[in-house]
Amino acid sequence: MRRARPCGAGASTRMEFLPFTRPSIDEATIAAVADVLRSGWITTGPKCRELEARLSDRYGGRPVRVANSATAAMEFALRIAGVGPGDEVITTPLSWVATANVVLTVGATPVFVDVDPRTRNLDLDALEAAVGPRTRAVIPVDLAGLPVDRDRLYAIARRHGLRVVEDAAQAMGSRWAGREIGTGGDLVSISFHPNKNLTTIEGGCLVLNSEDEARLFEKLRLQGVTRAPDGTMDCDVLGYKANLTDVAAAVGLGQLGQLDAFNARRARLARLYFDAIDPSLGLALPPRAFGPAAGDGPGESNWHMFQPLLPLARMSIGRAEFIERMKAQGIGVGVHYPAMHRFTLYRARGWRDGQFPHAERIGDSTVTLPLFPAMADDDVGRVARALAGVIAPVLDGAGA
Ligand SMILES: Cc1ncc(COP(=O)(O)O)c(C=O)c1O
Repeated sequence: MRRARPCGAGASTRMEFLPFTRPSIDEATIAAVADVLRSGWITTGPKCRELEARLSDRYGGRPVRVANSATAAMEFALRIAGVGPGDEVITTPLSWVATANVVLTVGATPVFVDVDPRTRNLDLDALEAAVGPRTRAVIPVDLAGLPVDRDRLYAIARRHGLRVVEDAAQAMGSRWAGREIGTGGDLVSISFHPNKNLTTIEGGCLVLNSEDEARLFEKLRLQGVTRAPDGTMDCDVLGYKANLTDVAAAVGLGQLGQLDAFNARRARLARLYFDAIDPSLGLALPPRAFGPAAGDGPGESNWHMFQPLLPLARMSIGRAEFIERMKAQGIGVGVHYPAMHRFTLYRARGWRDGQFPHAERIGDSTVTLPLFPAMADDDVGRVARALAGVIAPVLDGAGA
């Protein structure tokens, strides 16, 4: 494990900067990348096929196809599901903006509903209430790796004949009722962005239902072209340029063997956070979703992120100043994410402040604390001390 350490002689109180995330790439993976670079075949090829096969094994034999982003994978999922102009897709405003952008890209209309303040994921009652005659699909998001209730979600989808495109970008290794996300469900999209629990630098995959869907995905990711063994080709659908490279796939293969260990490490760090953060600071901690073994209910997070909510109403500084003060203590803090219906692109489509009070409050007060596999146990204590040092003096009129 890489440990935080003093930086420079005589700087015993100054610690190395602790980012909110950092990928873990081991020497074997770096060597595997070098092998691909020397091999003479560096774009989509055997390594991508091997990664797809290994992912398919992980997801119970379901077909899996990789692309150069999960954004592309979700867009293809919507096209495979037949979603297009005139259709509505229900989703959460509390996600990375890709979740709704892909709906616009295929010419359909995103319909936002608020989140459940306890899980911070799509409120499933609000989802069902929002289903109308034009609703074609739903995109649930497992925010921070906490899975949406798959039993209720699919019961609603079945009742109303909806396709489900699971935005499981952040949920690789998360489980619902003991089953890993991706082993069941409809179309499941996972991201391999550098911040994610498994990275290919950039990249993503889609878990599909059939070889027919997989063939369409293959066409969509590369210009809509099909090649025949005799060297002839045809293009019968408008595709994109979204194929993954073998260099990236080699990174993913190296990561895949370590994923379960990475996620176990993340879970340990999350537990340490629950013990280390002083409750008197008034932070709202994320749900403790460690899985059925811990008696926490059927949802088991992969602890992609650890996100408390700041007690802003009790603080005399705002989030931006909080982040600056944490940075001055050597701690990186992220924001994932402000509620997206308030972005200009979505305001221009009629969405307004105040429509989704839970998503807005969470999006305004959420902060992402450092959590990544190579973090040392001691780093959690360091973050907890910095939180106390920054928040206690500005709480309840203590004076900034
Ligand atoms: C919830 C969510 N959806 C979609 C995406 C898009 O993934 P990618 O960056 O691989 O396109 C991300 C990536 O941050 C995400 O967090």
